[in-house]
Amino acid sequence: MKVALGCDHGGYHLKNDIIKHLESKNIEIKDFGTYSTESCDYPDYALKVAEEVASKNYDFGILICGTGIGISIAANKVPGIRAALCSDTFSAHATREHNNANILALGARVVGPGLALDIVDTFLNAKFEGDRHINRIDKISQIEKKYNA
Ligand code: RB5
Repeated sequence: MKVALGCDHGGYHLKNDIIKHLESKNIEIKDFGTYSTESCDYPDYALKVAEEVASKNYDFGILICGTGIGISIAANKVPGIRAALCSDTFSAHATREHNNANILALGARVVGPGLALDIVDTFLNAKFEGDRHINRIDKISQIEKKYNA
């Protein structure tokens, strides 16, 4: 499994915790920045990771900002991206099972590092259930096509 990570300054420390955690499990990762706590713009990192995931260079993305809101909104503008902002483990597995989410967004000012790592593990280990959910995801793609034509 290959995971692309990105964050703004608000997510910098949590991203490092997640990277250490994933590396300890021998999961292949790439860090697309930001690389310090200097103030920056979350859409820049959302775009980098979302394009990598949409191009299928990575299986999943993990994006972190202060709330997780801005970076998930930005990532969801890239066609093919289904970024889910999760602050609990139920949402983390449900969004993989039902929405086939391909990016997990986290708010570093919302969840502590212990819960964040559980959310990451839950998200990465859950499987898309297919079945009735396929038609619903196809309808999301149709919305993208309608407005990107
Ligand atoms: C940065 O201060 C903050 O606005 C950002 O990390 C995020 O919370 C935006 O949604």
